[in-house]
Amino acid sequence: MKIGSVTLPSPFAVAPMAGMTDSAFRRLVKRHGGCGLVVTEMVSSEGLVRGIDRTLEYAEYTDEERPVSIQIFGGDPATMAAAAQVVEGMGADIVDVNMGCPVPKIAKHHAGCSLMREPKHAAGVIQAMTKAVRIPVTVKMRAGWSDHTRNAPELARRVEGAGASAVTIHGRTAEQSYSGSADWDLVAQVAAELTIPVFGSGDCIEPGQIMERMFTGVSGVLVGRGVLRNPWILAQAQDLAQGRTPREVTLAERGKFLQDYIDLLLHERLGERQGIRRAASGTEEHEARSANSLTARGHDRWVINKLRALCSWYSKGLEGGSLLRVRVNSAGSVTELREIVDEFFASVPAAAVCR
Ligand SMILES: Cc1cc2nc3c(=O)[nH]c(=O)nc-3n(C[C@H](O)[C@H](O)[C@H](O)COP(=O)(O)O)c2cc1C
Repeated sequence: MKIGSVTLPSPFAVAPMAGMTDSAFRRLVKRHGGCGLVVTEMVSSEGLVRGIDRTLEYAEYTDEERPVSIQIFGGDPATMAAAAQVVEGMGADIVDVNMGCPVPKIAKHHAGCSLMREPKHAAGVIQAMTKAVRIPVTVKMRAGWSDHTRNAPELARRVEGAGASAVTIHGRTAEQSYSGSADWDLVAQVAAELTIPVFGSGDCIEPGQIMERMFTGVSGVLVGRGVLRNPWILAQAQDLAQGRTPREVTLAERGKFLQDYIDLLLHERLGERQGIRRAASGTEEHEARSANSLTARGHDRWVINKLRALCSWYSKGLEGGSLLRVRVNSAGSVTELREIVDEFFASVPAAAVCR
């Protein structure tokens, strides 16, 4: 399937998830197969345009992840167009617009799901962006803002008219946040009405559910929490799509995934530390040494926090999973963290393997 001129090797994708789908995680999911597209965590259009380091970091990706979509948020057409140009300049394949985030911090600035309350303005944002860049501009929205305003069909038609190359619908309203269940009938309605590809998102926890959703007429499925629980879910859905029994994942493989994630995160941080060393060579050697040890502690904390966040999802459905969460939360160093992961996956009885 294609989004504009970009070919996706599979219709199954990693949904954007703030704080979770960093480059290291996306690379690992991609390596396990079945993944046709990855979307970055949402990044601020203002931050991109102003060149804020932290924002640019969130937007970083590696070639291994291609095709890659960078998701941006904001509500000002000119800033969003300029941010789309930054994204294009970074070499991304697609720029995606967040029209689904219900968090007040984002929504109060006419961004995220607030754009669904102003469909004409939202279409104006997309039009400004499609005029500014050659890469496909896509939109990710919810069913609507509230139960009284489930206007995804209208907004989807408008953004298609404004030049969007694809839309994704998470079938819940902003007011619902994550309660209730995703309305896939609404997703199917939009898929039937539009000529551009429509992706659905919501509540695919088992590979079989991803396959079932493909029968609603969508072009593809973006999987969020299901990938955090089971990074093999897209590969397993692809197995099903190709008529094979979904691959089994052993506990050893599940443990190795976490160790590989730690490796990739460390690699990113180590690069930065070497950078500090190089910059500080010469007369500032003493200061450089203390800066390095501070960074070492800081980067241990950063890796542990990343693992804590992932394990709160990854441990779900795993027998003894709460023990893994507690133990990871107590880790004081990366060495200890690695030991905890090794011990846990070596000690859980094989019968406790989750899907
Ligand atoms: C921790 C978390 C962070 C999320 N961050 C984003 C985001 O940055 N941008 C976005 O469009 N959606 C975001 N979402 C929504 C997901 O992309 C997805 O649409 C939603 O979780 C429903 O799919 P699921 O049931 O497969 O998780 C986030 C979801 C979660 C759980």
